[in-house]
Amino acid sequence: MSDYAIREVSAGDVVACHAIEQRCFRPEEAASLKVMQQRAACFPEGFLVAEKGEKIIGFLNSGATHDEDLSNDRLKSCDSHDGTGPNLVVFSVAVHPDSQGLGVAARLLRDFLNRARLLEKKAVMLLCQPELVPYYARFGFRHLGPSGSRHGGVAWHEMKIEF
Ligand SMILES: CC(C)(COP(=O)(O)OP(=O)(O)OC[C@H]1O[C@@H](n2cnc3c(N)ncnc32)[C@H](O)[C@@H]1OP(=O)(O)O)[C@@H](O)C(=O)NCCC(=O)NCCS
Repeated sequence: MSDYAIREVSAGDVVACHAIEQRCFRPEEAASLKVMQQRAACFPEGFLVAEKGEKIIGFLNSGATHDEDLSNDRLKSCDSHDGTGPNLVVFSVAVHPDSQGLGVAARLLRDFLNRARLLEKKAVMLLCQPELVPYYARFGFRHLGPSGSRHGGVAWHEMKIEF
């Protein structure tokens, strides 16, 4: 049995999540505190945190959309979030460096995929760096190939899981 819990975000968690976002992503890639607050407010059902004691050690956030085009950077903002959309787009998965390699992201992902099924979503999509393609494939994501997105000035790969 693990010593941390996965739960839906609350407003008071976002500063800690943002600190992890900043530790885990380069400045060009990391979402701002304001964007993360919007994500938590717009779609808390798609924003999960891993909590150990009183401390947030990782998180996953997402939005819902009717769009199928992952290279659309507009998807990352709440402007294009539509809770009725059948597709979920994962924006960030990040685990504090002190807690990496212990299966925290795996639990966040499994819990998130279960919740997506319960919400009767059709698919979950994400963009990742090429080295993480095999990792997401473990959870059933299919590699769709390189993405047109140049977010943060780097190459991304599209992955999708359909239910
Ligand atoms: C990727 C990340 C979320 C994984 O979190 P985690 O809780 O450590 O993941 P798990 O413990 O479930 O799985 C660890 C496995 O992830 C894979 N992995 C993690 N980072 C990797 C990398 N940079 N390259 C290749 N594989 C990687 C490995 O298979 C690793 O297995 P190992 O511990 O045996 O080496 C975490 O490393 C992180 O926050 N990284 C920085 C942010 C990031 O890149 N997020 C993903 C955006 S798409």
